[in-house]
Amino acid sequence: MNKLPSLFTGIFLIFGSAWLGLVNYPLKNLGNLQPVPDEATGGVLPPTVSGLAVAGQKVYAANGCVECHSQQVRFSPLTTDIDKELGKRQTVARDYLREKTALPGTLRVGQDLSNYGARAGEDINAIHRHLYEPRSVNPWSNMPSYCFLYHVVKIQGQPSNEAVIGLTGPRAPKPGYEVVPTEKAKALAAYLLSLNQSYPLPESPVATAK
Ligand code: HEC
Repeated sequence: MNKLPSLFTGIFLIFGSAWLGLVNYPLKNLGNLQPVPDEATGGVLPPTVSGLAVAGQKVYAANGCVECHSQQVRFSPLTTDIDKELGKRQTVARDYLREKTALPGTLRVGQDLSNYGARAGEDINAIHRHLYEPRSVNPWSNMPSYCFLYHVVKIQGQPSNEAVIGLTGPRAPKPGYEVVPTEKAKALAAYLLSLNQSYPLPESPVATAK
């Protein structure tokens, strides 16, 4: 008996249903997502970020940060992400609209960074100190040093006001030298500070205290 027609029908059904479920359905649901107006500021949500932060995302991607850091606050009743204060609400697809390539990540060797900008404060030196030598901040840290994003230069006259201060360990500059961030390091710091999902979205309002 010729079984070829049923074989091809079976193959078609398997690939057809996979295409419907994995390509067509998500495209219909998420393909046309748009930013929503922000009544408070007259801008849009998610907010647009500076050009420096956009450049910083490329540095983030190129240096494999996503291997150890996720950027997704997960669904509340099933995970403790919100209790752990990784964010005030669940991350949804619309949050990634401002990024050309989303980097949600899967592993959390380090913390989730979706809201790093909200908890980091304005201390840019602390961010550079951590990136140049994570063990300057947390002696137990196993995050790699990104010291190659910095220049170690001889102090000429006055120290630079961009110099990273408070560095310890073997990579700390020798007396008379200072560590200054390259453009890539500055962009990466701007990107990290831009990671902030404190704004509400219609499908994911900011959780109120229980
Ligand atoms: C091998 C895994 C690993 C990689 C790769 C890695 N990190 Fe980390 N990161 C960690 C760990 C572990 C911590 C927690 C300990 C610490 O603070 O150093 C951390 C902490 C951080 C923090 C502080 C988070 C907070 O909430 O205080 C920031 C910011 C950060 N990493 C940024 C980066 C950036 C940017 C890159 C890429 C340039 C990167 N990390 C690459 C493991 C990693």
